[in-house]
Amino acid sequence: MASAQYLMLPQNLLTNISVVDSEHNELFVFLEGFKEYCFGAQDIPQSKRDTLYQMLVSHFETESQLAHAAGVDFSYHETAHLKVLDVVSKTLNQMSSNNSDLYSLIRYIGYWFEQHILEFDLRFALNVTLVKS
Ligand SMILES: [Fe+2]
Repeated sequence: MASAQYLMLPQNLLTNISVVDSEHNELFVFLEGFKEYCFGAQDIPQSKRDTLYQMLVSHFETESQLAHAAGVDFSYHETAHLKVLDVVSKTLNQMSSNNSDLYSLIRYIGYWFEQHILEFDLRFALNVTLVKS
C-alpha cells in the first residue's frame, strides 16, 4: 500500500528520507504518464525522453550528494546508477518510432527501481540517517 503523501510509492519502498522518497514517487508518476504513448499513434516527444533521462540523472545526483555529505561510501551504489543510465540512454536513443519498445523500457525502469530501492537505497538511507544521528 502506498502512503498518502507518496501515492505511487509502495510502503515497503519508503526510505524515510523525504527528498529521496519524493523523487522516487515523482519518477513513478512520470513513468505512469509515459504509458499513454505506448499504445497510441503519437510518437513520444523527444522532450519527454530528455526529461526522463534528466530526472534519473538528477535523482542519482541527489543520492550522491547525500552520501558525500554524510561521508558514506557510495562507489558501489554509484556503479549501479551509471549502469542503468547507460541502458536507459541507449534504449531511448535506439527506440523505434512506433513506441513498441517504450512499454518494455517503462517496465524495465519500474522493475529496476523497485529492486534497486530494496537492495541499495534502503540500506543507503539507513547509513545516511545513522551518520546524521
Ligand atoms: Fe540509488
